[in-house]
Amino acid sequence: MPPSPPPPDDPGIKLREHTYDGIQEYDQRLPNWWLYTLYGAILFWIVYWFAHMISGLAVTDGAAVDAAMNRIAAAKMASSIDVSNDARFWEMARNPVFVDAGRQTFNSLCIACHLASLRGKSENPAAVGPDLTDTAWLHGGTPKEVFATVSKGVLTKGMPAWEPVLGQKKTAEVVAYVLSHHQPGEPITVEVPK
Ligand code: HEC
Repeated sequence: MPPSPPPPDDPGIKLREHTYDGIQEYDQRLPNWWLYTLYGAILFWIVYWFAHMISGLAVTDGAAVDAAMNRIAAAKMASSIDVSNDARFWEMARNPVFVDAGRQTFNSLCIACHLASLRGKSENPAAVGPDLTDTAWLHGGTPKEVFATVSKGVLTKGMPAWEPVLGQKKTAEVVAYVLSHHQPGEPITVEVPK
């Protein structure tokens, strides 16, 4: 049997009672680096658990995957915009990345006349633009009709043509934002402008 290590300097440290396979232990304090690592791990666990499970502050893995998938879907849609395809417009209108880009454009260029709520004259009779959230449209409410209105404008009535300013992608985004306030298949009425 190899010789036992010398006893620690501190005479207060005793040999513990048990013996396993002829091995005995001193009753020593754990080293500080070890204890602090343990306490740090416990603290990390509490903060991590709170952030992920309780507060919802941290992005969950599922949400991160959804966000990444939405970005990929948005990039694909943006690379193959087909303004004559209503179904594609509804997909864009359900994609948060697309809709968010559209919201930014809307909030900088359109709210002067249609208001931030999109409700235009319905919210404030002094507003220049009509309500874009109701199902009554002046120029048709299918996605391609809405795109055509936004793209070409209604110059005689004070609605500017936006595609020359924004380009096709941004125009499609802003239309997706308008459509995000609507449902596919909702009943559309077209008011003939007087
Ligand atoms: C200078 C004021 C003005 C701005 C800015 C403006 N619009 Fe309009 N918009 C109008 C007016 C006025 C009409 C109604 C046209 C008519 O009476 O035929 C209209 C009509 C529309 C319609 C058709 C509504 C329907 O019932 O058919 C859509 C869609 C629309 N605007 C979207 C937009 C978007 C998107 C933007 C920003 C990119 C925008 N507008 C910016 C004034 C504006």
